[in-house]
Amino acid sequence: MKRTRRLRTSEALRRLVQETKVDVSDLVYPLFVIEGENIRQPIDAMPGIFQYSIDRIVEEIDRVLEAGISAVLLFGIPKKKDEQGSEAYNDDGITQRAIRAIKKKAPGLLIIADVCLCEYTSHGHCGLVCEHTILNDETLVLLAKMAVSLAQAGADIIAPSDMMDGRVAYIRERLDEAGYYNTPIMAYSAKFASAYYGPFREAADSKPAFGDRKTYQMDVANGTEAIRECMDDVEEGADIIMLKPALAYLDVLKEASMRCDYPLAVYNVSGEYAMVKAAAQNGWIDEKKIVMENMIAMKRAGAKIIITYHAIDVAGWLKEIQ
Ligand code: PBG
Ligand code: ZN
Repeated sequence: MKRTRRLRTSEALRRLVQETKVDVSDLVYPLFVIEGENIRQPIDAMPGIFQYSIDRIVEEIDRVLEAGISAVLLFGIPKKKDEQGSEAYNDDGITQRAIRAIKKKAPGLLIIADVCLCEYTSHGHCGLVCEHTILNDETLVLLAKMAVSLAQAGADIIAPSDMMDGRVAYIRERLDEAGYYNTPIMAYSAKFASAYYGPFREAADSKPAFGDRKTYQMDVANGTEAIRECMDDVEEGADIIMLKPALAYLDVLKEASMRCDYPLAVYNVSGEYAMVKAAAQNGWIDEKKIVMENMIAMKRAGAKIIITYHAIDVAGWLKEIQ
Protein backbone atom coordinates (compact mmCIF):
# COMPACT_ATOMS: atom_id res chain seq x y z
CA MET A 1 0.00 0.00 0.00
CA LYS A 2 1.20 3.53 -0.69
CA ARG A 3 1.23 5.23 2.70
CA THR A 4 1.26 8.99 2.17
CA ARG A 5 0.38 9.44 5.84
CA ARG A 6 3.90 8.31 6.84
CA LEU A 7 5.29 11.76 6.18
CA ARG A 8 2.52 13.36 8.24
CA THR A 9 3.15 11.53 11.48
CA SER A 10 4.97 14.31 13.35
CA GLU A 11 5.34 18.06 13.24
CA ALA A 12 9.06 17.67 12.54
CA LEU A 13 8.43 15.37 9.59
CA ARG A 14 5.71 17.60 8.23
CA ARG A 15 8.05 20.57 8.40
CA LEU A 16 10.82 18.61 6.72
CA VAL A 17 8.71 17.89 3.64
CA GLN A 18 6.80 21.17 3.55
CA GLU A 19 7.00 22.55 0.02
CA THR A 20 5.97 26.14 0.55
CA LYS A 21 7.16 28.60 3.15
CA VAL A 22 6.30 32.20 3.78
CA ASP A 23 9.13 34.45 4.83
CA VAL A 24 9.04 37.97 6.20
CA SER A 25 11.20 39.03 3.24
CA ASP A 26 8.24 38.21 0.94
CA LEU A 27 5.99 40.82 2.51
CA VAL A 28 5.12 44.35 1.43
CA TYR A 29 2.99 46.56 3.66
CA PRO A 30 0.75 49.25 2.10
CA LEU A 31 0.61 52.69 3.73
CA PHE A 32 -1.80 55.61 3.25
CA VAL A 33 -0.57 59.10 3.87
CA ILE A 34 -2.72 62.24 4.01
CA GLU A 35 -2.12 65.94 4.50
CA GLY A 36 -2.47 67.58 7.89
CA GLU A 37 -0.96 67.00 11.28
CA ASN A 38 -1.33 64.49 14.05
CA ILE A 39 -3.80 62.37 12.09
CA ARG A 40 -4.36 58.65 12.45
CA GLN A 41 -7.70 58.16 10.78
CA PRO A 42 -9.17 54.64 10.85
CA ILE A 43 -10.60 53.20 7.63
CA ASP A 44 -14.02 51.74 8.37
CA ALA A 45 -13.90 48.64 6.25
CA MET A 46 -10.25 47.91 7.02
CA PRO A 47 -9.86 47.42 10.78
CA GLY A 48 -6.26 48.04 11.87
CA ILE A 49 -5.44 50.16 8.82
CA PHE A 50 -5.22 53.95 9.06
CA GLN A 51 -4.56 57.05 7.04
CA TYR A 52 -1.59 58.82 8.60
CA SER A 53 -0.33 62.36 8.37
CA ILE A 54 3.41 62.56 7.70
CA ASP A 55 4.28 63.29 11.33
CA ARG A 56 2.43 60.16 12.46
CA ILE A 57 3.47 57.84 9.64
CA VAL A 58 6.94 57.63 11.14
CA GLU A 59 5.34 55.86 14.14
CA GLU A 60 3.91 53.25 11.82
CA ILE A 61 7.33 52.90 10.22
CA ASP A 62 8.63 51.87 13.65
CA ARG A 63 6.16 48.98 13.69
CA VAL A 64 7.18 47.99 10.16
CA LEU A 65 10.87 47.95 11.07
CA GLU A 66 10.27 46.10 14.30
CA ALA A 67 8.33 43.45 12.38
CA GLY A 68 11.34 43.00 10.08
CA ILE A 69 9.41 43.99 6.97
CA SER A 70 11.67 45.36 4.26
CA ALA A 71 9.27 47.14 1.91
CA VAL A 72 6.23 49.41 1.99
CA LEU A 73 3.87 50.40 -0.83
CA LEU A 74 3.00 54.06 -0.49
CA PHE A 75 -0.25 55.82 -1.44
CA GLY A 76 -0.55 59.56 -1.05
CA ILE A 77 -3.88 61.34 -0.77
CA PRO A 78 -3.71 65.06 -1.53
CA LYS A 79 -6.05 67.67 -0.15
CA LYS A 80 -6.33 69.46 -3.46
CA LYS A 81 -7.63 67.41 -6.38
CA ASP A 82 -8.12 68.64 -9.94
CA GLU A 83 -8.90 67.24 -13.38
CA GLN A 84 -5.24 66.71 -14.25
CA GLY A 85 -4.20 65.29 -10.88
CA SER A 86 -1.54 68.00 -10.57
CA GLU A 87 -0.51 67.07 -7.04
CA ALA A 88 0.67 63.69 -8.32
CA TYR A 89 3.66 65.27 -10.05
CA ASN A 90 4.22 68.20 -7.71
CA ASP A 91 7.76 67.76 -6.36
CA ASP A 92 6.48 69.06 -3.06
CA GLY A 93 3.28 66.98 -3.09
CA ILE A 94 2.08 64.82 -0.22
CA THR A 95 3.60 61.58 -1.55
CA GLN A 96 6.95 63.17 -2.37
CA ARG A 97 7.14 64.70 1.12
CA ALA A 98 6.15 61.41 2.73
CA ILE A 99 8.88 59.57 0.82
CA ARG A 100 11.48 62.05 2.01
CA ALA A 101 10.26 61.75 5.61
CA ILE A 102 10.28 57.93 5.55
CA LYS A 103 13.71 57.83 3.90
CA LYS A 104 15.09 60.09 6.58
CA LYS A 105 13.71 57.87 9.31
CA ALA A 106 14.48 54.51 7.69
CA PRO A 107 17.02 54.77 4.86
CA GLY A 108 17.17 51.00 4.37
CA LEU A 109 13.43 50.46 4.02
CA LEU A 110 12.34 49.98 0.41
CA ILE A 111 9.68 52.43 -0.67
CA ILE A 112 7.52 51.25 -3.53
CA ALA A 113 5.58 54.20 -4.92
CA ASP A 114 2.21 53.58 -6.52
CA VAL A 115 1.91 55.54 -9.74
CA CYS A 116 -1.65 56.40 -10.72
CA LEU A 117 -3.76 59.51 -10.97
CA CYS A 118 -6.98 58.34 -9.30
CA GLU A 119 -6.06 59.56 -5.80
CA TYR A 120 -5.23 62.96 -7.27
CA THR A 121 -8.00 63.63 -9.79
CA SER A 122 -11.29 65.32 -8.94
CA HIS A 123 -13.15 62.76 -11.10
CA GLY A 124 -11.38 59.81 -9.44
CA HIS A 125 -10.32 58.13 -12.69
CA CYS A 126 -6.82 56.78 -13.25
CA GLY A 127 -6.23 58.95 -16.34
CA LEU A 128 -7.17 62.19 -18.02
CA VAL A 129 -10.83 62.43 -18.91
CA CYS A 130 -12.35 63.92 -22.06
CA GLU A 131 -16.12 63.74 -22.34
CA HIS A 132 -16.30 60.64 -20.15
CA THR A 133 -13.54 58.87 -22.10
CA ILE A 134 -10.29 58.03 -20.32
CA LEU A 135 -7.49 59.22 -22.58
CA ASN A 136 -4.50 56.91 -22.94
CA ASP A 137 -1.51 58.61 -24.55
CA GLU A 138 -2.11 61.99 -22.94
CA THR A 139 -2.18 60.24 -19.55
CA LEU A 140 1.20 58.60 -20.13
CA VAL A 141 2.93 61.95 -20.07
CA LEU A 142 1.55 62.72 -16.60
CA LEU A 143 2.26 59.24 -15.23
CA ALA A 144 5.87 59.50 -16.34
CA LYS A 145 6.17 62.95 -14.77
CA MET A 146 4.81 61.48 -11.56
CA ALA A 147 7.22 58.53 -11.71
CA VAL A 148 10.26 60.76 -12.18
CA SER A 149 9.13 63.08 -9.40
CA LEU A 150 8.68 60.11 -7.01
CA ALA A 151 12.06 58.64 -7.95
CA GLN A 152 13.62 62.03 -7.34
CA ALA A 153 12.00 62.15 -3.90
CA GLY A 154 13.67 58.83 -3.11
CA ALA A 155 11.27 56.07 -4.15
CA ASP A 156 13.15 52.79 -4.66
CA ILE A 157 10.61 51.10 -6.93
CA ILE A 158 8.02 52.61 -9.25
CA ALA A 159 4.69 50.75 -9.40
CA PRO A 160 2.31 51.93 -12.14
CA SER A 161 -1.25 50.81 -11.34
CA ASP A 162 -3.19 52.81 -13.93
CA MET A 163 -3.54 50.14 -16.68
CA MET A 164 -2.99 52.57 -19.55
CA ASP A 165 -1.45 50.94 -22.64
CA GLY A 166 2.26 51.43 -23.13
CA ARG A 167 2.88 53.00 -19.73
CA VAL A 168 5.72 50.71 -18.70
CA ALA A 169 7.81 51.50 -21.80
CA TYR A 170 6.99 55.19 -21.60
CA ILE A 171 7.79 55.47 -17.89
CA ARG A 172 11.00 53.41 -18.35
CA GLU A 173 12.21 55.78 -21.01
CA ARG A 174 11.50 58.92 -18.98
CA LEU A 175 13.12 57.42 -15.86
CA ASP A 176 16.23 56.50 -17.84
CA GLU A 177 16.45 59.96 -19.38
CA ALA A 178 16.28 61.49 -15.91
CA GLY A 179 19.12 59.25 -14.77
CA TYR A 180 17.02 56.74 -12.82
CA TYR A 181 18.03 53.79 -14.97
CA ASN A 182 18.56 51.72 -11.82
CA THR A 183 15.07 52.29 -10.44
CA PRO A 184 13.03 49.11 -11.01
CA ILE A 185 9.45 49.10 -12.26
CA MET A 186 6.96 46.82 -10.54
CA ALA A 187 4.06 46.80 -12.98
CA TYR A 188 0.50 46.10 -11.96
CA SER A 189 0.39 44.02 -15.12
CA ALA A 190 -2.85 42.18 -14.75
CA LYS A 191 -5.19 44.32 -12.76
CA PHE A 192 -8.77 43.16 -12.95
CA ALA A 193 -11.77 45.51 -12.75
CA SER A 194 -12.68 44.05 -9.39
CA ALA A 195 -15.21 44.78 -6.67
CA TYR A 196 -12.53 43.67 -4.20
CA TYR A 197 -11.04 47.18 -4.33
CA GLY A 198 -14.09 48.66 -2.59
CA PRO A 199 -12.57 49.43 0.83
CA PHE A 200 -9.39 50.84 -0.76
CA ARG A 201 -11.38 53.54 -2.49
CA GLU A 202 -12.48 54.78 0.91
CA ALA A 203 -8.88 54.62 2.16
CA ALA A 204 -7.48 56.42 -0.87
CA ASP A 205 -10.51 58.62 -1.53
CA SER A 206 -10.40 57.52 -5.16
CA LYS A 207 -13.91 56.43 -6.08
CA PRO A 208 -14.68 57.33 -9.71
CA ALA A 209 -17.26 60.13 -9.88
CA PHE A 210 -18.89 58.58 -12.94
CA GLY A 211 -18.82 55.18 -14.63
CA ASP A 212 -16.35 52.47 -13.69
CA ARG A 213 -12.82 51.38 -14.56
CA LYS A 214 -13.77 48.72 -17.08
CA THR A 215 -12.35 50.56 -20.10
CA TYR A 216 -8.86 50.23 -18.65
CA GLN A 217 -8.84 47.52 -15.98
CA MET A 218 -9.29 43.93 -17.16
CA ASP A 219 -12.43 41.87 -17.50
CA VAL A 220 -12.49 39.45 -14.55
CA ALA A 221 -13.35 36.64 -16.97
CA ASN A 222 -10.09 36.84 -18.95
CA GLY A 223 -7.24 34.66 -17.75
CA THR A 224 -5.45 34.32 -21.08
CA GLU A 225 -5.50 38.05 -21.63
CA ALA A 226 -3.91 38.47 -18.20
CA ILE A 227 -0.92 36.41 -19.32
CA ARG A 228 -0.63 38.55 -22.45
CA GLU A 229 -0.62 41.68 -20.26
CA CYS A 230 2.23 40.19 -18.19
CA MET A 231 4.25 39.30 -21.30
CA ASP A 232 3.70 42.76 -22.77
CA ASP A 233 4.91 44.44 -19.59
CA VAL A 234 8.03 42.29 -19.50
CA GLU A 235 8.70 43.26 -23.10
CA GLU A 236 8.15 46.92 -22.24
CA GLY A 237 10.76 46.68 -19.51
CA ALA A 238 9.00 45.76 -16.27
CA ASP A 239 11.32 44.24 -13.67
CA ILE A 240 8.61 42.78 -11.44
CA ILE A 241 5.18 41.64 -12.57
CA MET A 242 2.19 42.04 -10.29
CA LEU A 243 -1.27 40.52 -10.36
CA LYS A 244 -4.31 41.66 -8.44
CA PRO A 245 -6.58 40.80 -6.73
CA ALA A 246 -5.09 37.61 -5.29
CA LEU A 247 -7.30 34.91 -3.86
CA ALA A 248 -10.01 34.67 -6.51
CA TYR A 249 -7.28 34.77 -9.20
CA LEU A 250 -4.83 32.09 -8.08
CA ASP A 251 -5.32 30.25 -11.39
CA VAL A 252 -4.00 33.30 -13.22
CA LEU A 253 -1.15 33.63 -10.74
CA LYS A 254 -0.13 30.02 -11.24
CA GLU A 255 -0.21 30.37 -15.00
CA ALA A 256 1.81 33.60 -14.87
CA SER A 257 4.41 31.97 -12.64
CA MET A 258 4.90 29.20 -15.19
CA ARG A 259 4.98 31.49 -18.21
CA CYS A 260 6.97 34.55 -17.08
CA ASP A 261 10.48 34.14 -15.69
CA TYR A 262 10.34 37.35 -13.73
CA PRO A 263 9.76 38.01 -10.03
CA LEU A 264 6.06 37.77 -9.49
CA ALA A 265 4.10 39.81 -6.97
CA VAL A 266 0.50 39.49 -5.91
CA TYR A 267 -1.68 42.09 -4.19
CA ASN A 268 -3.91 40.69 -1.47
CA VAL A 269 -6.33 43.60 -1.81
CA SER A 270 -8.53 45.61 0.53
CA GLY A 271 -11.76 43.63 -0.03
CA GLU A 272 -9.96 40.38 0.70
CA TYR A 273 -8.61 41.87 3.90
CA ALA A 274 -12.03 43.26 4.89
CA MET A 275 -13.74 39.89 4.46
CA VAL A 276 -11.23 38.09 6.67
CA LYS A 277 -11.34 40.83 9.31
CA ALA A 278 -15.13 40.93 9.42
CA ALA A 279 -15.45 37.17 9.85
CA ALA A 280 -12.68 37.15 12.46
CA GLN A 281 -14.26 39.96 14.44
CA ASN A 282 -17.46 37.96 14.57
CA GLY A 283 -15.57 34.98 15.91
CA TRP A 284 -16.57 32.96 12.85
CA ILE A 285 -13.05 32.08 11.75
CA ASP A 286 -9.61 31.80 13.32
CA GLU A 287 -7.92 34.91 11.92
CA LYS A 288 -4.34 33.78 12.31
CA LYS A 289 -4.92 30.37 10.75
CA ILE A 290 -6.98 31.76 7.87
CA VAL A 291 -4.47 34.50 7.10
CA MET A 292 -1.50 32.13 7.17
CA GLU A 293 -3.38 29.68 4.96
CA ASN A 294 -4.06 32.49 2.48
CA MET A 295 -0.38 33.52 2.51
CA ILE A 296 0.71 29.94 1.79
CA ALA A 297 -1.90 29.70 -0.98
CA MET A 298 -0.52 32.77 -2.75
CA LYS A 299 3.03 31.47 -2.53
CA ARG A 300 2.03 27.98 -3.60
CA ALA A 301 0.38 29.49 -6.66
CA GLY A 302 3.72 31.05 -7.59
CA ALA A 303 4.00 34.50 -6.02
CA LYS A 304 7.36 35.55 -4.63
CA ILE A 305 6.18 38.89 -3.27
CA ILE A 306 2.97 39.36 -1.31
CA ILE A 307 1.55 42.84 -0.83
CA THR A 308 -0.83 42.61 2.09
CA TYR A 309 -2.49 44.66 4.82
CA HIS A 310 -1.89 41.65 7.11
CA ALA A 311 1.90 42.02 6.70
CA ILE A 312 2.70 43.21 10.24
CA ASP A 313 0.52 40.49 11.80
CA VAL A 314 2.00 37.84 9.52
CA ALA A 315 5.54 38.91 10.42
CA GLY A 316 4.65 38.52 14.11
CA TRP A 317 3.09 35.09 13.60
CA LEU A 318 6.12 33.92 11.61
CA LYS A 319 8.31 34.77 14.60
CA GLU A 320 6.08 32.64 16.86
CA ILE A 321 6.55 29.62 14.62
CA GLN A 322 10.37 29.81 14.69
C1 PBG B 1 -5.11 52.73 -7.81
C2 PBG B 1 -5.09 51.47 -7.01
C3 PBG B 1 -6.19 50.71 -6.55
C4 PBG B 1 -5.67 49.70 -5.76
C5 PBG B 1 -4.27 49.82 -5.82
N1 PBG B 1 -3.94 50.92 -6.60
C6 PBG B 1 -7.65 50.93 -6.68
C7 PBG B 1 -8.35 50.89 -7.96
O1 PBG B 1 -7.80 50.58 -9.01
O2 PBG B 1 -9.53 51.22 -7.92
C8 PBG B 1 -6.45 48.68 -5.01
C9 PBG B 1 -5.82 48.15 -3.79
C10 PBG B 1 -6.74 47.50 -2.81
O3 PBG B 1 -7.94 47.31 -3.04
O4 PBG B 1 -6.23 47.16 -1.73
N2 PBG B 1 -5.24 52.58 -9.16
ZN1 ZN C 1 -5.87 54.47 -10.28
